[in-house]
Amino acid sequence: MIGIIAAMQVELDLIKSELKKSKEEAHGGITFYKGEYKGKKTVAAVCGIGKVYAAMCAEAMILEYSPDIIINTGVAGSLSDGLHILDCTVADKCVQHDMDTSPLGDPVGMISGINKVYFESDEKGSALLCDCYRNLGVEPVYCTVASGDVFVANADKKKYIKDTFGASVCEMESAAIAHVCYVNGTPFVISRAISDGADGDAQIDFPVMCKTAAERSSKAVLEFIKRYGE
Ligand code: ADE
Repeated sequence: MIGIIAAMQVELDLIKSELKKSKEEAHGGITFYKGEYKGKKTVAAVCGIGKVYAAMCAEAMILEYSPDIIINTGVAGSLSDGLHILDCTVADKCVQHDMDTSPLGDPVGMISGINKVYFESDEKGSALLCDCYRNLGVEPVYCTVASGDVFVANADKKKYIKDTFGASVCEMESAAIAHVCYVNGTPFVISRAISDGADGDAQIDFPVMCKTAAERSSKAVLEFIKRYGE
């Protein structure tokens, strides 16, 4: 079983439309679409925006469906001059940029208890995802993703996240999904296409570019499902 999580409906529409024998099931307030793509058992869900919804969805998905791997797909803001709108990224690792117990002497971003700052994505899965992008004629950027409960839309915040965590993209869910996956021992991969520059224009670019960017990521994810485990 392959699990797919997107924050917004627009980020899941294409994948959902391709699922065969699709059945809806509700768990923990989240609707899961259980079906098949190219003969592969798949479960997909729209989690909602932000880390709490993302974590709830990942936990429910793992408890109910025991996926072999979870894919987080969607859009992101760029933190890097080299990453432009509609460019595509695959995460090597992700971090929660709004987690901060540094006044207690901890490294910024560290999750207490497990004492981790970064969550590494599944190496084999991420290599496959990169290859799936290449098959579609897109060279993805393999980079670090920073998540937080913030829509980043100014230069200072953007610079802080980039400089503090070495991240190239920002969004609001993947590191929460990664955190839940880590605790449960479930591998994960992250596919994000750039919808905006996380700058002063982000609130203008995001609504315009979201659907097109989301579909670029979705196409790579569909290819991934087709090839996963072969
Ligand atoms: N998702 C897409 N663009 C984003 C941004 N600028 N900040 C946070 N999440 C995003």
